[in-house]
Amino acid sequence: MTKKTENRAVFNSKFAAIATTVGSAVGLGNIWRFPYEAGTHGGGAFLICYFAFVLLLGVPVLCAEYSMGRATRSNIFGAYRQLAPGQKWQFSGYLGIIASLLILSFYSVVAGWTVEYCISSATGSLDFSNPEGEHSQFMALTTGWRPVMWTVIFLFCNTFILLGGVSKGIERASNILMPLLFLLLIAFCINSLTLPGRNEGLSFLFHPDFSQINSKVLLSALGQSFFSLSLGLGCMMTYASYFSADTRLGKTAITTALLDSGVAVLAGIIIFPAVFSFGLSPESGPTLVFEVLPFIFMQLPGGAIWSTLFFLLLFLASITSTVSMSEISITYFTEEKKMSRRKATLVSSAIAMAGGLLCAFSFGPLKELTICGMTFFNLFDYVSSNIALPIGGMICSVFVGWVMDKRLLQAQFTNEGRQRFPFFRLLVFFLKWICPTAIFLLFLDSIGILSLLL
Ligand code: PHE
Repeated sequence: MTKKTENRAVFNSKFAAIATTVGSAVGLGNIWRFPYEAGTHGGGAFLICYFAFVLLLGVPVLCAEYSMGRATRSNIFGAYRQLAPGQKWQFSGYLGIIASLLILSFYSVVAGWTVEYCISSATGSLDFSNPEGEHSQFMALTTGWRPVMWTVIFLFCNTFILLGGVSKGIERASNILMPLLFLLLIAFCINSLTLPGRNEGLSFLFHPDFSQINSKVLLSALGQSFFSLSLGLGCMMTYASYFSADTRLGKTAITTALLDSGVAVLAGIIIFPAVFSFGLSPESGPTLVFEVLPFIFMQLPGGAIWSTLFFLLLFLASITSTVSMSEISITYFTEEKKMSRRKATLVSSAIAMAGGLLCAFSFGPLKELTICGMTFFNLFDYVSSNIALPIGGMICSVFVGWVMDKRLLQAQFTNEGRQRFPFFRLLVFFLKWICPTAIFLLFLDSIGILSLLL
């Protein structure tokens, strides 16, 4: 339920605050991106770095974004401006807008794949008999015009929901659907634990080979932790601007992080036993999950029904995430540029559509067109997740740690002194020192990697 204060909507239940931020966090990042990143970066070695970054860097930065958003009830630009008038911090908002539009572009392509799988499963045309190789379902749906069409359709759905506004669209959908997706994932986990490749799959995911940890693994794990928590681009800040005065920020941050990484681990438990049971390679990259899942559904009784339901929920989980990333540019256009919400939504969607088409064509006519060895799809993913989000998170952490008034910050975590928050000093220490230094060092690494590529 939402109520209007001044002219901004406010989520007025604690459940709604958690459900919407979890709705933003949980999406393709957990179910599609996490398994493929873990698969290409050594499984357990990646998982352990990812967990460490979620807890040590992700949670503090999430707290920082929440506190800025709720303290100012504003978008990323307004938040920086209100908290440090006359300074130029708000420019990091542009980074957030660019990152959100880049993510929206490639994300819509993958979300388009889920639509194709869902419809093909429902109509019985998902060909389970040949999930691998040149004639696989995946190849069939990522070549030609269909993926482009689904990307466009997905973006239309996203625009349609956004035009409905915050209160109606986002909240209602995520309150009901996220728990349902969670239950379905648990059911698929149980199924994967009965597969013959269970032990191999679980040991790939949970037994880290520490010798595999290198700068590439570290950077990817950092990127994944920020991507998955929707951090570093002002998205959580914008959502927190809708939190009520009673929402406990620290608790909401921890709950969001735990649920989000929980879903990623569930996805890993579903995918890796299947990868080893069916003799596939964990390193197939962005196509991994879409190649493996048909094998899983194939051996289930009523596979087509499970498959339809799963892809339907995954599609909805993607929409709750794309809605949140679209909010960044929309609130910028409405609150900074004084556009109507309708116009702002249409402008953002048009930009995302152009980017989405470039990414969709990366699997077809633009396959050969690479920059630094990456197609548009891979480039947009790499630049946004591994570079823009960590930098955005670092700026936010430096700002809250060093610049934001500490009394104001404390008031946010104690809800004006009404609640206790024993971790305040620890949080400030992390925001001042640990997060910026760690991200900066990892980021230097990424420049090293980039210059090797060039
Ligand atoms: N966190 C979302 C996911 O895991 C993706 C996302 C990134 C959403 C950035 C908003 C902002 O799918």
